[in-house]
Amino acid sequence: MILKEHCVRNYRNIEEASLSPGDRLTVICGKNGQGKTNLLESIWLLSGAKSFRGGKDGDLVRKGTPFAEILATAEGDTGEDMFRIAIGGAEADKKGRFAKINGVDFGRATNLAGHFYAIVFAPNHLSLVKGSPEERRKFLDAALCQLYPGYLGIYKRYLRALTQKNALLKDARRFPDVEYLLDSFDEELAAAGAEMIAHRKRYTEGLFEEAQRTYQSISSGSESCTFGYSPTAETAEELRTVIRERRPADLRAGFCTAGPHREDIEIRIGGEEARVFASQGQQRSAVLSLKLSEAQQIAATTGQQPVMLLDDVLSELDSARQDFLLSRIEGRQVFITSCEASPFDHVQGAVYRMEAGTLSKIK
Ligand SMILES: Nc1ncnc2c1ncn2[C@@H]1O[C@H](COP(=O)(O)OP(=O)(O)O)[C@@H](O)[C@H]1O
Ligand SMILES: [Mg+2]
Repeated sequence: MILKEHCVRNYRNIEEASLSPGDRLTVICGKNGQGKTNLLESIWLLSGAKSFRGGKDGDLVRKGTPFAEILATAEGDTGEDMFRIAIGGAEADKKGRFAKINGVDFGRATNLAGHFYAIVFAPNHLSLVKGSPEERRKFLDAALCQLYPGYLGIYKRYLRALTQKNALLKDARRFPDVEYLLDSFDEELAAAGAEMIAHRKRYTEGLFEEAQRTYQSISSGSESCTFGYSPTAETAEELRTVIRERRPADLRAGFCTAGPHREDIEIRIGGEEARVFASQGQQRSAVLSLKLSEAQQIAATTGQQPVMLLDDVLSELDSARQDFLLSRIEGRQVFITSCEASPFDHVQGAVYRMEAGTLSKIK
């Protein structure tokens, strides 16, 4: 996957900016708060995913303007495609992001999944190790949405049933036929949930094996990091049984207490739980291993190398790990943001400066 041209209008603090990336490396440098991450984020949105910064779609539109636009040309294995994403405004009369490829309407931007592959690595991704199980499920679900465009539909089906069932559980006493209603939700949760689990299982097998190997190399073989996923159940039948057995507990709690929405990824370093025991550097290495493995899985599954978006991460890594990261991204197009341009003086590639939302080419 190669991003050939990228242009944004009224995107966050950027009125208008055009980027002609290098085939390999593109550096965007500038002081804090100038719009470097914003630009990287706009590239990430081509993947169809939500922003890695969280927040609402409306936040992406430059204050005081009606809508934002992202225009890009990217080359994949089927040739060049022109992407256009409109955010807010008359074209998107409902709130959200809407996409076109080569002028053809794709509806919601989530439908871009499978058309543009990217991996983003940002400092706040440390929360993958340190944060709550929800962060790790989000990571898994986002990766699956990108890789298997059908996953989002399954996930939404599950979420809809879950939301409805939770509403019912919260107010169960008001419904005389609650058991009957719960049965029908359980049916849907077991069917959609088992599909989610099957995807998560298949995906994590390859992902974790590669990530464990990568961690070994990062630590020069001196440490081991293990990643594990234990599904709630193996089949729809089993999942239905688990959900059914939980019903009394769910009724007491007022929400669904078991299922794919409560699963987690277990990360251990040297046998200890990484969230609690690992040092900052070890946690960072674990995230780096997962992200590099994610890129590897995309390449292996789709035959296309994802674009790598590295936000401010080099400064966070010691020089050995910087070298390791840079050696592992060879063969892919990489975008790096950095406060300083000097480390990139001697590298081949395009270098831009971002200043108060204005992008200028240095080299
Ligand atoms: N919707 C928006 N409209 C205008 N400015 C915005 C919007 N969203 C964010 N910004 C501004 O963008 C700037 C942050 O840009 P960012 O890309 O995070 O900087 P950095 O160069 O440090 O990565 C902040 O000054 C913020 O106020
Ligand atoms: Mg930034």
